[in-house]
Amino acid sequence: MRCRVRFLPSERTIVIQAGERTLLEATRDVGLPIASACGEKRACARCGVEIVEGAGALEAETDREKWIKERNRIDPNLRLACHVHPSGDLTVRASYW
Ligand code: FES
Repeated sequence: MRCRVRFLPSERTIVIQAGERTLLEATRDVGLPIASACGEKRACARCGVEIVEGAGALEAETDREKWIKERNRIDPNLRLACHVHPSGDLTVRASYW
C-alpha cells in the first residue's frame, strides 16, 4: 500500500510505500530540511513536527518518544519524525518548510 505525505506550508508532497520509511527520511526525500542533532539516533527531539491530519497513520507514541520529548522540553503534541513510519495519508507541518 502506498501513502501520500503532504508537507505544509510548502505544499510539497511525496508518495511512499506504507511503513517503509521514517517520516524524517520522507522529509529529506522531498528536499525539505529537518533538524537532527543526534544523527537520527532517536535522542535529540529536534525532528519534532506537527501532525495536521492523519495522526492515525502513525504508530502509537512509545514511552521512549514521550520521555525524549520531556527530557528535551519539546511540545508534547509534536511527533518525532525519526520515530514514526507513515502507513497512511498524512499532512505534517514545520514552520521552516
Ligand atoms: S533526529 Fe534526533 S530524535 Fe529525531
